[in-house]
Amino acid sequence: MENEKLKRSFIQKIANFCKRKGFVFPCCEIYGGFSGFYDFGPLGVELKKNIKDEWWNTFVRQRDDVVGIDGCTVTHSMIWKASGHVESFTDPLVECKKCHKRFRGDHLIEDAIGLSVDGITIEQINEIIKKHNLKCPNCKGELTSAKAFNLMFKTFVGAVEDDAHIAYLRPETAQLIFTDFRLVMEVSRLRPPFGIAQIGRVYRNEISPRDFLFRLREFEQMEIEYFVHPDRVNECPYLTEELLNFEMNVYSAEMQQKGEKVKKMSLREILEKNIIKTKWHGYWLALMYKWFMDLGVNPEKLRIRQHLPEERSHYALDTWDIEYRFPFGWKEIHGMANRTTFDLTQHMKFSGKDLRYFDEKTKEKIIPYVVAEPSQGVERAFLTFIIDAYTEEEDRIVLKLHPKLAPYKVAVFPLVSKDGLDEKAKEIHNTLKKKFACFYDDKGSIGRRYARQDEIGTPFCITVDYQTMEDNTVTIRDRNTKEQVRIKITNLESIIRKLIEGEIKFSELKKQNSI
Ligand code: GAP
Repeated sequence: MENEKLKRSFIQKIANFCKRKGFVFPCCEIYGGFSGFYDFGPLGVELKKNIKDEWWNTFVRQRDDVVGIDGCTVTHSMIWKASGHVESFTDPLVECKKCHKRFRGDHLIEDAIGLSVDGITIEQINEIIKKHNLKCPNCKGELTSAKAFNLMFKTFVGAVEDDAHIAYLRPETAQLIFTDFRLVMEVSRLRPPFGIAQIGRVYRNEISPRDFLFRLREFEQMEIEYFVHPDRVNECPYLTEELLNFEMNVYSAEMQQKGEKVKKMSLREILEKNIIKTKWHGYWLALMYKWFMDLGVNPEKLRIRQHLPEERSHYALDTWDIEYRFPFGWKEIHGMANRTTFDLTQHMKFSGKDLRYFDEKTKEKIIPYVVAEPSQGVERAFLTFIIDAYTEEEDRIVLKLHPKLAPYKVAVFPLVSKDGLDEKAKEIHNTLKKKFACFYDDKGSIGRRYARQDEIGTPFCITVDYQTMEDNTVTIRDRNTKEQVRIKITNLESIIRKLIEGEIKFSELKKQNSI
């Protein structure tokens, strides 16, 4: 309960901060808000776009074996019959017999007795509710038995509202990759091993959306389906020495069952000990873990956790989540299932279309095998980056976002708005904004202006002062250390670019003579 209170107040603080600074607003606030829906404000939309761009650049543009699609969000009902979502995409729902408020059974148990019960069955939920005599958290009324509630939003397409015209708002982007699979393979002339990526909106009618951006009803996913030959799940040509030596905090199903602690292991050790069953699965997990680290997330707050058998989705042979240690506990920020040939087999059955490919080596027609499905919510990544970066120091709040993610890369200030300093600063701002997201500010004291940029994560601030008018140099200030260095205006653009890309460190700037 204490943990629950801590979690609520922390999440509320972050939500207030995000609203105050223009990152995230409650949707339709003028009508009292809309639970599970959030809008992104001027800074939020930039941060979100930067996250998606970083993901797309890393996993699509910089690879020869992954191509992208952008599928529809209103989708044919047959997709979801074939995929099993109509039948199995459910959460346990309990209702109060007195006030008729509805709750997600496993969350109700978690909140009431602090027991994490991810993935337990409806029968187990009913047993726990009975055993602990749990009541409605709202009015202490008696609860109904739990029943399965389907999370898909249903709608009708066209003017007739009958069963033949039912469509679903997609609850995951993955299925559109499977339904487009044959066309993508034909036009891109790729054969397994290869991947198809997608970033797009999805919808889930969550029973109890909560924890700000953590559990939403509308959100975006970034997903890849990676297809291999079913007999070649271990033939991964990208396992470099560097990646094999890459270390992750590991929590396998066996370790959880035996009550052991999380252990740091290299990918090599994980694969050699058969903790992750296929090399491709290990490879993609390491890449995604590294992606978060390369964008500044504290590695000590990351771990990979294997699903217990009862937690796994109906389509998964093996699933590993990447979890982040939020101030209120470890939570999933990224999922990665081995989906086998399940989805393509189902779509072949339901559509009657052949989705196999011709394997040149064996001269056989093969159903591609999804060895790994890297899948994450953009908003959960957003929350992770914000929480990891949010720092309260004695005299300021500073958002230590990685420069690549920061909404503004640079802010330009005139020390005072007179004697031509403001014109010079505007000139610099006009040049830099063609290259970087750049902010101009001449309001208030210089200290206040720095503080405003620190709070929204701007990594570098440029100040034009009287010396600028004499020698065409400006000061550049580092957000994290507050250190300042003088540099020539002519070098500004290349220095800022190198700082953002990590090609030089700010501390090194000081040591250079002619900058
Ligand atoms: N295609 C696989 C799939 O959709 P999932 O574990 O249901 O798997 C993948 O979702 C990711 O989507 C999660 O790791 C999480 O980051 C994000 N996600 C899932 N449900 C969410 C929700 N209600 N609100 C925000 N993000 C969510």
